Amino acid sequence: MLIVVSNREPYLHETAEDGSVTAVPTTGGVSVALDALMRERGGTWIAHGAGDADRQVCDDGDRVRVPPDAPAYELHRVWLTEEEERHYYGGFSNEGLWPLCHLVHVKPVFRAEDWAAYQSVNRRFAEAVASDLTDTSIPVFIQDYHLALVARELRALKPDARTALFWHIPFPPPDQLRMCPWRRELLEGLLANDMLAFQLERDRRNFLAAVREELRLDATHGILEVGGRTVNVVAAPIGVDFDRISSMARDPRLLVERDRLRRELHISAPIVGIGVDRLDYTKGIPERLDAIDRLLTERPALKGEMVFVQVGVPSRSKLESYAAIEQEIDARVAAINARHGRSAADGPIRYRKSALKMRRLVALYQLADFCIVSSLHDGMNLVAKEFVAARQDERGVLVLSELTGAAQELKDAVIINPYDADGFTRALVRAIEMSPEEQRARMRRMRQVVAGRDVFVWASGILDCLENASVA
Ligand code: F6P
Repeated sequence: MLIVVSNREPYLHETAEDGSVTAVPTTGGVSVALDALMRERGGTWIAHGAGDADRQVCDDGDRVRVPPDAPAYELHRVWLTEEEERHYYGGFSNEGLWPLCHLVHVKPVFRAEDWAAYQSVNRRFAEAVASDLTDTSIPVFIQDYHLALVARELRALKPDARTALFWHIPFPPPDQLRMCPWRRELLEGLLANDMLAFQLERDRRNFLAAVREELRLDATHGILEVGGRTVNVVAAPIGVDFDRISSMARDPRLLVERDRLRRELHISAPIVGIGVDRLDYTKGIPERLDAIDRLLTERPALKGEMVFVQVGVPSRSKLESYAAIEQEIDARVAAINARHGRSAADGPIRYRKSALKMRRLVALYQLADFCIVSSLHDGMNLVAKEFVAARQDERGVLVLSELTGAAQELKDAVIINPYDADGFTRALVRAIEMSPEEQRARMRRMRQVVAGRDVFVWASGILDCLENASVA
């Protein structure tokens, strides 16, 4: 039994054109990974209700059982007004903290009204947790930078609550964190948890350095004493549901899905590359498209022989910085297709600007000769791990940015630096020319890593540590 708290909900209830209501699973590695955990453990997931039919399907306590096909846990929705969403989610979380934490040269914006909304929405989430926490021995597992103050607010309502927070994105070094006028409040909010977990050792070090500098607190072996309480600070890289993805990949019916995708995307070329991302300026999509452009310019024989499928899921589109990256990518795709295609409609880039359901995504992963993850900075990047999990055939090459958390574990990927244009293009040549034997050897080793540290190992590492710390 577990309480998970996140901003993004795992299922959105949406009204279809015919007026019926359907539950749409949220795409994105984090939701998929945590949904797997909740299916196994059961309990309650508290999240912002953002679907247009979300209220319609909830009971009087704002709860609905999910997943819709095999209910295993409760989804407790928190309602936000448009204004709250704009300031807390769009403003402080995504115009402030997101660029603050990613080293991508997008200036963070900090507004007092966003900070006020962030504090009050975090309080609302804490109240929702308190109403579900009938027994304070139930662990509360808080997710990400949207909810840095929940534990502190919860402690005022339920002093004995046991909470862990996982920070999914990079944690900035002290010099960068200093840009945030409310950094001390954020650090204090985070320290109200019993456990704090970051993706990488580097993030954990940055956090401890910030705590030392800003709050004059010192940690011995990652353990801090704060106001008579003990806080454990660890690094625990997140994983994917390896077994579920692998078993989808083994299903012979997936062949039909693969053929359908080939038809839909007009793929007849023998070489297929793919990229799957939220349309976010951290993902290095323009750099990737440029590398493909250069590859086709330097090796014109590849024209007509290679297609690159880019799945781009629109994200946070109300924000200017996101609308700008969408436009930039649209323009790049059109220019490359015009330059290298027989006609603009038949160019080398097949751009699909919407999400794919997990089964189709697995089919796409299997179609690929290579998959590019070229983030400029990324906490982990679960697409890299999903691609590996989907390749039970031990084929395919992962081209992976050294600026992702995943690169710390997936040493057998072809590692690139998205800022190094020539090196990126050379890596693509290497991926295309890699022998099947080398592909197999590399993929086999990466599969061992991804299988060995799946989402369940990740979660139990954190939750067992929370358990042991509160028993001690
Ligand atoms: O991985 C970081 C993260 O911000 C998650 O917290 C989030 O659910 C995901 O990316 C997608 O972003 P959003 O919820 O803003 O669509």
